[in-house]
Amino acid sequence: MFIAGGTSGINLGIAKAFASCGSVVGVVSRSEEKVAAAVGDLSNGSSQAFGVAVDVREEAALTDAVARFAEFAGGTINIAISGAAGNFLCPAKELSANGFKTVVDIDLLGSFNVAKAVYPHLERPGGVLLNISAPQAYAPTPNQVHACAAKAGVDQLSRVLALEWGPEGVRVNSIVPGAIANTEGLARLAKDPDDDSGGADSRVLSTIPLGRHGEVEDIAAMALFLSSDAASYVSGAVIPVDGGWGPSGPVPRRQSIA
Ligand code: COA
Ligand code: NAP
Repeated sequence: MFIAGGTSGINLGIAKAFASCGSVVGVVSRSEEKVAAAVGDLSNGSSQAFGVAVDVREEAALTDAVARFAEFAGGTINIAISGAAGNFLCPAKELSANGFKTVVDIDLLGSFNVAKAVYPHLERPGGVLLNISAPQAYAPTPNQVHACAAKAGVDQLSRVLALEWGPEGVRVNSIVPGAIANTEGLARLAKDPDDDSGGADSRVLSTIPLGRHGEVEDIAAMALFLSSDAASYVSGAVIPVDGGWGPSGPVPRRQSIA
């Protein structure tokens, strides 16, 4: 199993879940230190993990790293996951073109680069590609015009690749995490730029029908399911794991609209 951006947070949690099931795991991200730490975490006595410091925006270096992982894993890749992302809160009127482009390049172009890099190595039939999306893909979100545009594109990438690669026996799906506890994403986004009181995170919590933040393990469980034979008829799907937010994302819950 190969995971881009697999050195921290949700993606590292997914990588750990696969490693504990006995998968040979490979990770890439930009930081040498994070890659080395993740490889240490993911290796055990019988199975060494693979890792290389690569930016998903650098197509040639990424393609080379994926080819090296395929060789390391015995010739093919059974499961590939694209989870690298960058985000920050910024109103559209203050966001530079390069700020918009940076998030689109990491999240959307990066996911395309991962898909292209893994494609020649994916098992046929039986290969699985998962893209890690976000509620911004369908819930219009203030201060998130870059991530909304990028993640909407990521979900369309999943749907189109499911059509193109399905006949070869490759399934492609998106997982949409909700607000996941103890992650960089939640730390960056669950705040109100106009509110220094520190109450923003509890306001996010109050919007979640199931009444709790998600855990990294909730997302890892969905990744394991979608990679298993139990999901052998699931492809081209965009699957929220969000505590019940649904298509409108984190909005205040109401008993009725009247
Ligand atoms: N507000 C407004 N603009 C911002 C910004 C912010 N908080 N942070 C970065 N930018 C802009 C920069 O000003 C720059 O634009 P400019 O050249 O017009 O000034 C552009 O974005 C690129 O910034 P840079 O720092 O060079 O990007 P990078 O490629 O080194 O880092 C980021 C990418 C900005 C997304 C960085 O936050 C990151 O590495 N994030 C990864 C971790 C993460 O976001 N995790 C949560 C996932 S949900
Ligand atoms: P995170 O810990 O910051 O994870 C992002 C990972 O991507 C890191 O390993 C980072 O490592 C890597 N990365 C970033 N830019 C990269 C690049 N250009 N090239 C290669 N690797 C890069 O954040 P997270 O919150 O766990 O988010 C993980 C995924 O879940 C993201 O796709 C995010 O959009 C999605 N998500 C998160 C939440 C949430 O609540 N946290 C909700 C919805 C969706 P380096 O810094 O070493 O590059």
